[in-house]
Parts: sequence; C-alpha cells; structure tokens
Amino acid sequence: MTCKRVLSGIQPTADSFHLGNYLGAVKQWVQLQEDHDVFFFIADLHALTIETDPALLRKRSLLSAAQLIASGVDPQKCTLFLQSHVSQHNQLGWIMECLAGFGEASRMTQFKDKSQKTGTDRTAVGLFTYPMLQAADILLYQADRVPVGEDQRQHIELTRDLAGRFNSRYGQTFQIPEPHILKSGAKINDLQDPTSKMSKSAASMQGVIEIMDTAEINAKKIKSSMTDAGREIRFDQTEKPGISNLMTIHSALSGSSIADIEKEFENKGYGDFKGAVAEIVVEYLRPIRAKAVELLEDETALVKILHEGAEKARVVAEKTLALTYKNLGLVQ
Ligand code: TYM
Repeated sequence: MTCKRVLSGIQPTADSFHLGNYLGAVKQWVQLQEDHDVFFFIADLHALTIETDPALLRKRSLLSAAQLIASGVDPQKCTLFLQSHVSQHNQLGWIMECLAGFGEASRMTQFKDKSQKTGTDRTAVGLFTYPMLQAADILLYQADRVPVGEDQRQHIELTRDLAGRFNSRYGQTFQIPEPHILKSGAKINDLQDPTSKMSKSAASMQGVIEIMDTAEINAKKIKSSMTDAGREIRFDQTEKPGISNLMTIHSALSGSSIADIEKEFENKGYGDFKGAVAEIVVEYLRPIRAKAVELLEDETALVKILHEGAEKARVVAEKTLALTYKNLGLVQ
C-alpha cells in the first residue's frame, strides 16, 4: 500500500498560535507524520492579505516554525517550509483564479466575514483570491488529506471542486483531497464568548489561550472564563456552551472521555472544574512554550530547516506545475 500524502498550512498572523490552532490542526499533524508522507508549511503569503509590519511578519514566521517544531512537528519526518520559498504556489494560484467563478469565490464565508468587518475599500483583493491560493497550496502536492479545523471546510470543498473541474476539462492532473477534520476539537471556542470560535483576530484576547503566554496568564484566563447558568458539570453545547468548551479542551489534552469527566466532577462545582482544566492546559503547554523559546535562540538553525524543507517541497511542486502547464496547452 502506498503511503497517503498529507498537507496543511498555518498563517503566521499572531505572536502565538492559540489552543484552537493546536487542537484543531497541529496536534493532528504530529500524529499524521508517523505514518503518512507529510508536507506542512507556514502560509506567509496568505498573511499578506492583511496589512503587516515587515519586522513583525519575519518574527512571526520564525515564531511559527519554532512553535510547530516545539509541538512535535519533526523536520526529519516531514517537509516543513515557508510558502514564499516555493514560487510554484503563486504560479498555480493564478491558474486556480482563472478556473474559479467570481460568484463561487464570493460565497466564501471567511471572506464575507472578514471583508464585512473592514469594509470593501480597505479589503485587499488578495483576501478575495485567498482560497484559490489555498487550493494551489494543496493541489501542488497531490495531497490525499488535509488536516484542518472546521473553519477551513469550505476552502477544502472549493479546492475539491476546482481540482475536479480542471481534471475534467484538461485531463487527469490533480489528486482530489479529502478534508481531515476531527469530530471533537475541530472547533475550540473563545473562553469569554463560547459560541464563537477561538481566533487570532478576536477583539479581546481574554478568551484566547496562547501557546506562548505564561502559565499564570493562561491559568487566569481559564479560571475567569465565562460561566454558564446552573451548577452541574455536564456536556451540553446549547445550555452550557462555556463548560462544554472546557470539557472538549480537557478531553483533547487529558485523553479522558467526556463521560469520565462528567463522572469525575459529578458533585463538584464550576470553580473546581475550571481549576482542573487550568492545571491540565498549563502543564500541557509548559514544555511546548519552553522548547519554542529555546529554538528561537538560534534563528540561523530555524531558517536552515525551512530552506531544506523548501528544497524538498520544490521538487514535488515543480513536477505538478509542469504537468498542469502541459495539460493547459502552455508551450513547454
Ligand atoms: P489558520 O492559520 O487560521 O489556522 C490554522 C489551523 O488552525 C485551525 N483553527 C482551529 N481549529 C479549531 N478551533 C479553532 N478555534 C480554530 N481556529 C483555527 C484552522 O482550521 C487551521 O487548520 N487558510 C488557512 C491556512 C492555509 C491552509 C492552506 C490550510 C493556507 N493554505 C492549505 C490547509 C491547506 C488558515 O488561515 O489557517
């Protein structure tokens, strides 16, 4: 049996990944690298769709690499690279833009949400074409599976549609990828607003657990998370969105089932439960943060890892792009 190929990416748009990024995506990446042919990248070109300070973008790209490696993404087992180091992403991105319909692209909910917040005049055209670049990211590597959180499902569906359309118009060129989305953990919510997803661009960071934050800050955020009505510790996303979100986090990090957690806290209150979740989160993140800080001390080594990854990625990307150009009728 041939080994399935996996690809995924993450944007370097904050000083830290949050717990949603970790549980929805990165934790899966680490597991998948054990028995798949895996490509992971930092989507620094996608990060340009919002105005960025150059020094900050550089810092955050390296911070992202450090956090991924500290979380267990192993450059010996996977191909880890920066999107901007492999120019085929932009080249195939253009082809995808020519393949996608304007109406189809206009239906992307992430674009609609983000552009509504900033208004059309201040929304970059790149934010609109973002999903077509994402399709190129995936199709270049002929990925079978794409491990992402629930919020990326629509982009993967679009990628599948574009790949199928290209294949039927121009002949078999791209593998049609499957989304790899967990049943639990694919949507971690904000601790203060537990019906909305935890997000790097949240208006307040009070409800966002960041990997690079101190144990004290993270423990405090969990202990002061929004409290639901009632008293029991029970999983019920409608009646108890706050407690249910904390239970999802507990379960994903401790490995205990929701039923076991409910049993353990049967006669206890919210305060005890939040204290226990804070302890689990803080102890889980402590070594990741420490390792990331250590890795950041040697920038040259980090950049070297990313260059080596890009070299490997380019070999695959070049092959797919050449086939795409040939099938399109571009003179070779
Ligand atoms: P990004 O950088 O917003 O998020 C990285 C990953 O984290 C997941 N995620 C979450 N999972 C659970 N709960 C949450 N609250 C939560 N918030 C974020 C995301 O689903 C994602 O898997 N467009 C992508 C980056 C990208 C990409 C790609 C991904 C560019 N090209 C190709 C896969 C394949 C993004 O903005 O992810």
